Amino acid sequence: MDWVHNMFDLTGKTAIVTGGATGLGRAMAEGLHKAGAQLVLIARNEQRLEQAAKEMGREGAPVSWVSGDLSRLENIPDIYQKALDPLGGRLDILVNNAGIQHRCKAVDFPLEKWNAIVDTNLSAVFALAQQAGRTMLAQGHGRIINIASMTSYFGSELIPAYAASKGGVMQLTKALANEWTQGGVNVNAIAPGYMVTELTGDMEQKNPAQYQEVTRRIPARRWGRPEDLQGVVVFLASEASAYLSGTIIPVDGGYLGK
Ligand SMILES: NC(=O)c1ccc[n+]([C@@H]2O[C@H](COP(=O)([O-])OP(=O)(O)OC[C@H]3O[C@@H](n4cnc5c(N)ncnc54)[C@H](O)[C@@H]3O)[C@@H](O)[C@H]2O)c1
Repeated sequence: MDWVHNMFDLTGKTAIVTGGATGLGRAMAEGLHKAGAQLVLIARNEQRLEQAAKEMGREGAPVSWVSGDLSRLENIPDIYQKALDPLGGRLDILVNNAGIQHRCKAVDFPLEKWNAIVDTNLSAVFALAQQAGRTMLAQGHGRIINIASMTSYFGSELIPAYAASKGGVMQLTKALANEWTQGGVNVNAIAPGYMVTELTGDMEQKNPAQYQEVTRRIPARRWGRPEDLQGVVVFLASEASAYLSGTIIPVDGGYLGK
């Protein structure tokens, strides 16, 4: 058991999780925290951040948080520095999870929505990875875990900006891995399948036909739960994945293979 424990143990490691107050980000943050990592959550809503940090911190190390809008790219260096402070200036793990989406026919898709989605889901992922990459390369060790999507692989419908941004996340993951792996910084992505969160929770009501079609296609015969990402995020953050970089891991109940 010691061997297994040592492979996945994150005691003494520091981590930042964006969008860590809700949904998939919160579940992944909880997984990293339970594995021993010291955590800072970044998101927009202070109340939810405070509550999530308090609940997570009831067991194990206290959890810190920084509120900020990552789509304002010029704010990212400041948000990053604020997050690094409670971690004593060292960062081992960055989970680039914050994301938004908007459903609309491509012919009517508002350009301001396009810009907000691409800024949040792709440009902010790069800008924060760049900050983290500088710290991690100086340390000679780090793990960057981006959150991609099924739409990193296919275009879907009514979400052109989201699909374009998540396709970009997949390519960015490989591009950063190609430059940084030799410096001890592994860069990988998780591509969640269809998961029940606030982001997708209204699909059953708003688009029942697509909801049914998706559900029928999932070999696991259920939508994913946020906790389904905990094992893989701990794996990617730990020594167990030391030789893994530039890879995108779908966690989708078998959806892509169908
Ligand atoms: N739910 C799914 O089925 C699914 C599937 C594939 C990928 N994803 C991706 O997983 C990630 C998390 O999604 P979720 O379903 O948990 O959504 P969610 O809406 O529950 O959580 C998104 C989080 O991102 C934060 N956020 C959004 N914009 C931000 C900004 N500008 N600045 C700071 N924080 C911001 C929010 O505060 C929130 O905490 C997203 O990148 C999403 O695209 C979700």
